[in-house]
Amino acid sequence: MLALTGITVRYGRREVVHGVDITVPPGELLAVLGANGSGKSTLLRAAAGLEPMAAGEVTLDGERCDPLDIAMVFQHIHLVRRRTVLDNVCSGALGRLPLRRSLVPALFPRELREEAMACLDRVGLADRAHDRAGSLSGGQQQRVAVARALCQRPRVLLADEPVSALDPAATEQVLALLAELAHEEQLAVLAVLHQPSLAARHADRLVGLRDGHVVLDGPPRQDVELLYQPAIVKAV
Ligand SMILES: Nc1ncnc2c1ncn2[C@@H]1O[C@H](COP(=O)(O)OP(=O)(O)OP(=O)(O)O)[C@@H](O)[C@H]1O
Ligand SMILES: [Mg+2]
Repeated sequence: MLALTGITVRYGRREVVHGVDITVPPGELLAVLGANGSGKSTLLRAAAGLEPMAAGEVTLDGERCDPLDIAMVFQHIHLVRRRTVLDNVCSGALGRLPLRRSLVPALFPRELREEAMACLDRVGLADRAHDRAGSLSGGQQQRVAVARALCQRPRVLLADEPVSALDPAATEQVLALLAELAHEEQLAVLAVLHQPSLAARHADRLVGLRDGHVVLDGPPRQDVELLYQPAIVKAV
């Protein structure tokens, strides 16, 4: 069980995430919704250890989480376009390999290449392993990014708007893949989405953020309107 407890992030004097508590059991795809600026990306980055927290902790089954247990996928995919798909996937393992700084793609060990092939197979792209990453479509590149995340052997997958740059068909494919990975590989998956209808179709649960607070947490078919209403300005 992934538990985010009391996550608080400040930029200067401004607090943008206010003591957020969220749990995600293994085997669940949790969608995070909220208006622009509500703190979704900041929360994910803090959970992944990419953003210092003013307070709070991230635990897995009650123990402080090892950053290597968490893999991240982004809207902007960050593959090395001129390298092969397989090399990109192998690089997901760099964090957990000894001597990683001295490894160049030509020296990726055979076992790693085999594992990376299995990850590519998992996302349905084994046949593209030897193509240049830059030659794949956006949706295919996002699936490669998911394979690279899997090659890290994470227990938690965090995805920040993984489908915002994809067409409707690729969007369905990538979200179905994230749900499948949660259900079949028992990963805890937390994905920021911008469309409530997508969350309703694919996610097991939905959390809504508003101004850095959790204001919804429950089944995906709930009224999410309040997440997107402008803040009420108090008369003075
Ligand atoms: N590096 C930063 N320095 C200062 N303020 C920041 C920084 N990153 C984010 N913020 C502020 O934190 C708040 C939350 O931003 P965040 O990017 O987490 O929102 P979001 O919910 O991901 O929005 P979007 O839907 O637009 O991606 C915003 O008010 C933003 O201006
Ligand atoms: Mg964001």
